Amino acid sequence: MDRRIITIDGPAGAGKTTVSKALARELGCVYVDTGALYRAVAFEIKRRQINWEDSALLEQFLACLDLDFVMEGREPVLTSSGRDISAYIRTNEISMLASATSAVPQVRKALLGIQRSIAGERDAVFEGRDMGTAVFPNASYKFFLTADVKVRARRRFEESNASGISFEKILEDMAKRDRDDTQRAVSPLKQAPDAILIDATELDVSQVVEKMKSIIIVT
Ligand code: DC
Repeated sequence: MDRRIITIDGPAGAGKTTVSKALARELGCVYVDTGALYRAVAFEIKRRQINWEDSALLEQFLACLDLDFVMEGREPVLTSSGRDISAYIRTNEISMLASATSAVPQVRKALLGIQRSIAGERDAVFEGRDMGTAVFPNASYKFFLTADVKVRARRRFEESNASGISFEKILEDMAKRDRDDTQRAVSPLKQAPDAILIDATELDVSQVVEKMKSIIIVT
């Protein structure tokens, strides 16, 4: 049987991560968070103070980048030069820098191969922005998960209330990320023509997962 790939794309805060993890667990697949790769690039750019708008410097930086996913059970853990960096890539600053740098074609090109090879030959659920459009155009099942921007910002705010960032700031940054992610020239965030749209404005995680499972033929 062919390897089964399920893609879940959509804007920030729509619940992709929770849904993808739950779905992967239920189907017995590997779960891959491709946003973490873009965050890792942003994290290393910041840490090494790379002037990423200089394309020669960026090229050099990308050539030396050593990102990898190490399998821990079914969840790949992201490493950079062998070090687990997952604790440093979820800040608001890294979110904004990841969105900005992900628009650069050189960055997308550098990450394409690693995304395709991560799961090896295993069945996998891939979460991102361009999984169904650019990275896995032949995926077995494609979903586009979205929700009203205010609902998405509210959820993020509730998740991150210890960070001290106001709801208004989270909403403003989310709307900016939506704009930047959908309007970039290369692999913008958009629904693949053959992707199934799920609007989670009024659905919780388990309802979204049930909806997806009812579409996927479990073999
Ligand atoms: O899913 P996330 O919020 O962790 O992603 C961070 C940023 O990375 C997002 O704003 C856009 C970029 N991204 C991308 O361009 N393509 C992907 N497949 C995943 C993320």
